[in-house]
Amino acid sequence: MSASDRVQALRAAIERHNIEYYARDAPLIGDAEYDHLFAELQALEAEHPELLSVDSPTQRVGAAPLPEFAALAHATPMLSLNNAFAEDEVAAFDRRVRDGLAVGSAAEVGVEVNYSAEPKFDGLAVSLSYQDGHLLRGATRGDGSSGEDVSANLRTLRSIPLRLQGSDWPAVLEVRGEVLMLRSDFAQMNERQRDKGEKEFVNPRNAAAGSLRQLDPRITATRPLRFFAYGVGIAEGAALPATHSELLDRLAAWGFPVARERRRVAGLAGLLAYYAEIGRQRSALPYDIDGVVYKVDELAAQARLGFVSRAPRFALAHKFAAEEAVTELLDITIQVGRTGALTPVARLKPVFVGGVTVINATLHNEDEIRRKDVHIGDTVVVRRAGDVIPEVVRVLPEKRPVDARRFAMPKNCPVCGSIVVRSEDDKGEKGEKGDKGVAAAVARCSGGLYCPAQRKQALLHFASRRAMDIEGLGDKLVEQLVDNAIVRTPADLYQLGVVALAGLERLAEKSAGNLLAAIEKSKQTTLARFIYALGMRNVGEATARELARHFGSLQRLLTADDAQLQEVADVGPTVAQCVRQFCSEPHNRMVIEQLRAAGVSWSESEGAMPSAGAVAGKVFVLTGTLPSLSRDAAGELIMAAGGKVTASVSKKTHFVVAGAEAGSKLEKAQQLGVSVIDEGELLALLQASPLAVPEST
Ligand code: IVH
Repeated sequence: MSASDRVQALRAAIERHNIEYYARDAPLIGDAEYDHLFAELQALEAEHPELLSVDSPTQRVGAAPLPEFAALAHATPMLSLNNAFAEDEVAAFDRRVRDGLAVGSAAEVGVEVNYSAEPKFDGLAVSLSYQDGHLLRGATRGDGSSGEDVSANLRTLRSIPLRLQGSDWPAVLEVRGEVLMLRSDFAQMNERQRDKGEKEFVNPRNAAAGSLRQLDPRITATRPLRFFAYGVGIAEGAALPATHSELLDRLAAWGFPVARERRRVAGLAGLLAYYAEIGRQRSALPYDIDGVVYKVDELAAQARLGFVSRAPRFALAHKFAAEEAVTELLDITIQVGRTGALTPVARLKPVFVGGVTVINATLHNEDEIRRKDVHIGDTVVVRRAGDVIPEVVRVLPEKRPVDARRFAMPKNCPVCGSIVVRSEDDKGEKGEKGDKGVAAAVARCSGGLYCPAQRKQALLHFASRRAMDIEGLGDKLVEQLVDNAIVRTPADLYQLGVVALAGLERLAEKSAGNLLAAIEKSKQTTLARFIYALGMRNVGEATARELARHFGSLQRLLTADDAQLQEVADVGPTVAQCVRQFCSEPHNRMVIEQLRAAGVSWSESEGAMPSAGAVAGKVFVLTGTLPSLSRDAAGELIMAAGGKVTASVSKKTHFVVAGAEAGSKLEKAQQLGVSVIDEGELLALLQASPLAVPEST
């Protein structure tokens, strides 16, 4: 046998063993034998480099790191599912399906619909493209129309076939499914992390997401990620079976893992029985699920039902209720946020709920504590769903001990001692709204930037990615800088030197250098980012952009009165008051001056809405990968020139800027007759616009 033939035979054998192991749970050989085949293939490839190929199983160790992920447009959008929690919502879905399918055929009324029912995996959606049975590339879901090209990472997953089995696959095939971590693999991985003294992952979902989005595929290769297929995006060149359940069987035959728990069921009764059954099995399943998914089984019927906005009419996610657990509330402590809002936090006896061990839960605000009648020492029900912050749902009053204590908001800030004031006027920070979404009274530390807690949060916000974007300035570092009185205000950051950083714990010389470089780099910014970074209450990114655009210069913003402020789009009396209060505070003025003196700059009039030029007032949509600019960068240039960037194409869109692999947005533009331009044409438009390209000052 020639070396080439042997290499081919080994690759085919190893891939087949991968599939037997990962997709069929039925390994034919032991680990030692597998390792032996693998070693032989590696040796042959080393001897004959001309035989190397990307779809050799030896390449699953991971390719070279990437500077960033490229954007990849999906050939057809990756949609989301409508959710249901209650049985009557499922009944309504089944009725809509029957009505939808019965249109024009009285005979079908009352007939039960067949569904394919599957677990709803709690991982990350990905799409895999195959050409002639070879894995070409793979992407995350992203915003549904385009995601990130994580091909190199996905290739490291042994549960993803690099070549399909059999021969009845479509020449062009896009398989969709979920990347996740099995509970057992997750537990083992965390054990290893613990042994190495490294940070443990919170839950399998976060671990899977973090692992898949590594720029270095060699890291991904070390993480136990699994893929499960649940559908097909596009298929050209061969007919698909008539039903979804047969399609899943076909995917399994081609080598993809699919849920063992998949089932074909009839009518509403079948759906509900399946839900109950999987609910009972849930805790014993090898992976986390957050519900089940029902899909009309017949593919032709799916096509007839079609889609409403972002979700198919033929499918439904029937979710499990958020997990609840009972534990003891040991204490209530106070957290001070960036704008001084005091949030009461329940300190709990550790309890495992919703996939994580919970030791803290939010109590939102004082009114919530009163409403739920929470006492320190109470036995409480806590709830956690997905990535949501755990919360105390209710107390079990019958279990209240005699020495349970009522909680009172402190009159002074627990961090700095300043007076606490209650205000009813605004939303405060995240998580302070009452259950019904009504603004609740917020207790606030009046210490402003005198308060170290507020100072830390303000610094973190200032440095955050969408503000001044100072990479490497995280909580631990800010904590030390503030506690050691090295940094008091954002302006102090620009006075930092190697000496000041030298004494800090766990900051290697190299990271100190990197941090200083990042701080230096942040000096060149935009007016909008700068305004946002200042962290005025109620001024988010969008408002900051509007303020920059309207006033065009910081000086004009600082001196604007209420009426002038309210001329800005989206700025009402509350926001205007917050901005004015901030700008008239002498301490804030001083920090701003110091920042400017330290060299923080932007092109002074960049924000002014240029009224002339080809870009001002025009609406742009960016899609696909542009040759040189990232989409964020292109967006900033457009906005700096007075244009607007939106996410979806409509009749109001003036230009669609399309790069490589542009997908549905490009199609939509063509349908609507919107001008489609490329990066070169965009740059030409920007050049023709005044003040378009930020000057370096
Ligand atoms: S089908 C057009 N099946 O749920 C419908 N999705 O809310 C496409 N998911 O992003 C989705 N398990 O990541 C489908 N068995 C399953 C699923 C599933 C998990 C996720 C998927 C999607 C989200 C939609």
